[in-house]
Amino acid sequence: MEVGIFVSNKKSEIIKILKDSEGKTISGEELGHRIGISRTMVWKYMRLLVDEGYGIESSPKRGYLLKSVPDLLNRDEIRMGLRSGFIGQQIHYFNELESTNITAKELAYGADDGTVVIAEVQKKGRGRLGREWLSPHGGIWISIILKPTISLTHVSRLTLVAGVAIAKSMRKLGVDARIKWPNDILIGDKKVCGILTEVNAEIEQVDYIVIGIGINANVDMNDLIGDVKNIATTLWSEIGKPIDRVSFIQDLLFDIEQEYIKFMTQSFSGILDEWTSLSDTIGRQITIMTPYNIVEGKAVGITDDGALVIKNSDGRREDIMAGLCIYT
Ligand code: BTN
Repeated sequence: MEVGIFVSNKKSEIIKILKDSEGKTISGEELGHRIGISRTMVWKYMRLLVDEGYGIESSPKRGYLLKSVPDLLNRDEIRMGLRSGFIGQQIHYFNELESTNITAKELAYGADDGTVVIAEVQKKGRGRLGREWLSPHGGIWISIILKPTISLTHVSRLTLVAGVAIAKSMRKLGVDARIKWPNDILIGDKKVCGILTEVNAEIEQVDYIVIGIGINANVDMNDLIGDVKNIATTLWSEIGKPIDRVSFIQDLLFDIEQEYIKFMTQSFSGILDEWTSLSDTIGRQITIMTPYNIVEGKAVGITDDGALVIKNSDGRREDIMAGLCIYT
């Protein structure tokens, strides 16, 4: 079920006032007066917030004091302090979904450009090449609906745009995030994030694009099971403490919007340069398994459309659009 459709504005206002009070108790009367509701309504909102995990100390004489904020990605929290102009202005937030990409595609036709779908947990998270994407509590599972007027052939560029923005956002946290072609973000040799771009188009005209981003943010390493445990990492374990997921998402949406604006208004070579400087793949010996063949060689560059340029052992160049990339 989608959370908080009707009450979110007053609730956001109350959260903001409590946060701004910085350790001071604020009376129900003053709160009600400031947002134009009765003391009884203030009390009802407080109960709602406590149910959502906010630590609120209430004393009948003095009022309310905010002690703690839950580690939840609820949209009121994200909206406050969002610096992006259109990405994230509409947020659909769910405690649990099968997949944010699936829901984003269902919502896409009626949705504004930049609408975001977020879930605390995904039951059937989708990865590339038909694989499952493990999505327990503590992660950032998010899909962004974009409606650019671009041709189908340029859609793959958007994965590069997203990769650059995500790597840049993560680097601000102090980790050495790099991009593994085509769309993994690594820290060291471990994967911390994957991107799944899906498109709906008619002949050449794109209707919408969904960029699905999965980040192992505050995921407990013990929740990573099977093979994933050996090849994945989390921001929490890399940094040594849990990150503030809300402020990270606010920064991430802003950074994605900045890169997206560059993509729409400037020559693509700027993004390619950024991608190349953040790339973990270029310069490495690799094997790529495509649906048709296996290609081995050295990764030497990236084309305008996001194909990896490979020089194989007899010096021939091959441009690979998609596949599973293994470092050798
Ligand atoms: C990959 O295989 O590396 C891509 C993983 C993409 C996972 C994200 S999580 C949010 C969005 N919803 C999904 O079902 N998948 C993407």
